[in-house]
Amino acid sequence: MPSTAPQSAMSSQPTTREPLHGVGLGLRRSMLPELAGRDDRLDVDFLEIAPENWIGVGGIYGRRLRELTRRYPFVNHGLSLSIGGPGPLDREFLRRLRRFLDQHGALCYSEHLSYCSDDGHLYDLMPIPFTEAAVRRVAARIVEVQDALGRRIAVENVSYYAAPGAEMSELDFLNAVLEQADCDLMLDVNNIYVNSINHRYDAAAFLAGVPASRVVYMHVAGHYVEAEDLRVDTHGADVCDPVWELLAAAYRHCGVRPTVLERDFNIPPLDVLLQEVEVIRRLQAAALEDPGRPGARMSA
Ligand SMILES: [Fe+2]
Repeated sequence: MPSTAPQSAMSSQPTTREPLHGVGLGLRRSMLPELAGRDDRLDVDFLEIAPENWIGVGGIYGRRLRELTRRYPFVNHGLSLSIGGPGPLDREFLRRLRRFLDQHGALCYSEHLSYCSDDGHLYDLMPIPFTEAAVRRVAARIVEVQDALGRRIAVENVSYYAAPGAEMSELDFLNAVLEQADCDLMLDVNNIYVNSINHRYDAAAFLAGVPASRVVYMHVAGHYVEAEDLRVDTHGADVCDPVWELLAAAYRHCGVRPTVLERDFNIPPLDVLLQEVEVIRRLQAAALEDPGRPGARMSA
């Protein structure tokens, strides 16, 4: 549906232009009525949206989004770019995406290091084979996307349940793509944890191999315990203690980075979600007080 929002409103800049920092919440459309009924500002430093859910949306939803992007800093987390897909990149979508990011003053754009289209959309995020050929191809596509959008992008380490044709480890694949594309990393801490159980590796060792300087922001989320040795990345539950511990470890390794709470199913009232956001804030504060943290000064 084409946008029905007035052009003048769409082209004005958001009021908040501070650098990305602190704690964020993944905004879902179902949260909008509750948000609209609140007079107070949410105790978050930024919001994250999936641009595919909003590009071209007008009417009351378009207006509510515009109000929010004026009040809060925003980052965008893409769903459909299919960075590892076999077909050509969707140039028309990239043009619309660039316009959307500019209109809403997006502070960052991230996408999954996966693919979701073949001839048509697969409606799921599929793992890219961990091969040298895939590294070259995906890195070239990321460069193409960065050129088309006129900005650096961040890719997200994804959860996956099979690794067909792997020639290297997930960590080596991730690092090779980041280096060849020279792009940033959006580190999903829950995905590290879920993958470490499903693929029997050491989450702390994986984290230690992540290039800290490329991490622009982080995700944390809950997952479903299918069995002791099988976790499903649902974003439908509270964050569990081992993932909170891994987030604290991620701050020790990377330094404190802006962090988003993702919740896609079984979404509780906002005040309940904000309690989890508060846990992130406490972990960030504790990490900043740690004299041994990366980047800490020698003297206070
Ligand atoms: Fe994520």
